[in-house]
Amino acid sequence: MARRRKRDLIIKGFSKLLKEDKLKLVAELMDNQLETIELLKSFWYADTEKQKIFDEFSENTLTNFYIPYGVAPNVMVNGNTYVVPMVIEESSVVAAASSSARFWSEHGGFKAEVIDTIKEGQVHFQWAGQKEKLYRVFDELKQVLIENTQHITANMEKRGGGILSIELVDKTAELQNYYQLKVNFETKDSMGANFINSCLEEFARSMREFMAHHPVFDKGERDITIIMSILSNYTPQCLVKTWVECDFETLDSIDEKLSGEQFAHKFATAVKIAEIDTYRATTHNKGIFNGIDAVAIATGNDFRAIEAAGHTYAARTGKYQSLSHVELKDHTFKYWLEIPLALGTVGGLTSLHPLAKHSLEMLGKPSARELMMITAAAGLANNFAAIRSLVTKGIQAGHMKMHLMNILNYYQASAQEKEKARQYFSDRKVSFALVGQFIQKLRSAQ
Ligand code: MEV
Repeated sequence: MARRRKRDLIIKGFSKLLKEDKLKLVAELMDNQLETIELLKSFWYADTEKQKIFDEFSENTLTNFYIPYGVAPNVMVNGNTYVVPMVIEESSVVAAASSSARFWSEHGGFKAEVIDTIKEGQVHFQWAGQKEKLYRVFDELKQVLIENTQHITANMEKRGGGILSIELVDKTAELQNYYQLKVNFETKDSMGANFINSCLEEFARSMREFMAHHPVFDKGERDITIIMSILSNYTPQCLVKTWVECDFETLDSIDEKLSGEQFAHKFATAVKIAEIDTYRATTHNKGIFNGIDAVAIATGNDFRAIEAAGHTYAARTGKYQSLSHVELKDHTFKYWLEIPLALGTVGGLTSLHPLAKHSLEMLGKPSARELMMITAAAGLANNFAAIRSLVTKGIQAGHMKMHLMNILNYYQASAQEKEKARQYFSDRKVSFALVGQFIQKLRSAQ
């Protein structure tokens, strides 16, 4: 009860406290205060300078939350072979990516192409004036907007990027007096969120000023209400495609009970189901994002933005569907993924987070376009591994094998017990209960 009361406390000015005081305050919510402080501090970097970088990424940082950083070797994309960094907690994801990457590296690897790299931002505003006037002065307004953002765009232009187009979109049929400035950007190797948002906010300011003074507008038309200025995380024009292709015989080795052709048909049916059924499509795409998010996190990219875009893209026909597809034609298995990926290899966390920086170095300092192709390949690799398991031996066999260590750690198994369990379960079904029984038996025999 006392604990419940403590949890109800409203804490004012928390962000202004020193880190040590924040820790103490949070520990006070727990029964074991000293252990809480010790636990949280045990995840600090010994190097205080390094820790400071992490503290400053976000507000109210108390400690670091570790997630495994692994690699999938043998990811061949357009003939280049990469060791791909993956940050993920789910036991089987890196193993799955590695095994399909290995398989495809022996059969031509992943092919990939960047379809486009355009990103969009919007200034949403309301205005009650005469529409034709706005359209009449729009070219003039565009010039002003471009001139007024020169101080922001100059560097980006040197790198070959910048503002590509500015359009006025009339949305008044959907919402009274609602218009948008719809702006397309090229942000080259940066993800570009800050660049885009800075340009948009300057556009909003400049447009307000333009409208307030331009002689075409009457007194009552001088005021516009800027609702918001923000990039869109939906990036259907920042798109990458990756695919693999082989004849049916190449798939003969996949499962002892299925010929390559049978496997190809079963696989294609599983993908078709993810095109038809939304429940299945969600899980199917989640498997793709297992690979994509893991690479995005390892390279310091915004995986929430990428997920949001991917799911919207999956629903672009009005029905949420699989992001990957299969075609069986002329005895050939062709399997591809098309996905929007707004990734950066400069700016943001990519150079600040020491491990993100390392990941990019390990990938050979790729351009954003190259990283889009590698990341998409990791997504397809994970999707392939998942469907392969699902249509053959089932997902749990491999998944639970990988999960065995987690279960053993739950039972606080010693190194010896782990080794015995590994041997015992190498050809047996793994479940939480079965592993528990095994450990109990080992311990009672001692
Ligand atoms: C688990 O993280 C992902 C899968 O469920 C994906 C799928 O079902 O395709 C295995």
